[in-house]
Amino acid sequence: MTASTTTTFQLNGKALSVTTSPDTPLLWVIRDEVGLTGTKFGCGIGLCGACTVHFGRHAVRSCVTPLSAVAGADITTIEGLSRDGQHPLQKAWVQTQAPQCGYCQSGQIMQAAVLIRRFPQPTDDDIDSVMNGNLCRCMAYVRIRQAIKIAAAEVRGGAPHA
Ligand code: FES
Ligand code: FES
Repeated sequence: MTASTTTTFQLNGKALSVTTSPDTPLLWVIRDEVGLTGTKFGCGIGLCGACTVHFGRHAVRSCVTPLSAVAGADITTIEGLSRDGQHPLQKAWVQTQAPQCGYCQSGQIMQAAVLIRRFPQPTDDDIDSVMNGNLCRCMAYVRIRQAIKIAAAEVRGGAPHA
């Protein structure tokens, strides 16, 4: 492990300085150093999507993103997606009762937030193409797809959201 250094970035809109090895995966900084546990550990090797966060406007896997890579960046976790839990995706997730065990769902929502920016009226193929790296062992894919379409429709309709 590399010697500790101080890395500064924006987390959910607030400046954060962390002194630890720059090799530390962002996931563990978020969970262990900051204490935000909405971002989940699944595989640890970038293959399941449970740890998805936003790096600027992109979705990244925080388990394979070293702290050194986020210096000066804007990082958003599920806790920062909206101020009040009323993002269209969060409302649609509740409406459709999308989760089963729930473990994968914050990663699903963070990936979906990028999707609906890129595809304002997503087809099933659009959804599959962007979401296929986010695995759900409860097989909630049908409800997730439905929730994404509902949220995208709300955004298209100009309904207010955070
Ligand atoms: S825990 Fe990061 S992709 Fe699985
Ligand atoms: S809801 Fe259980 S893993 Fe997705």
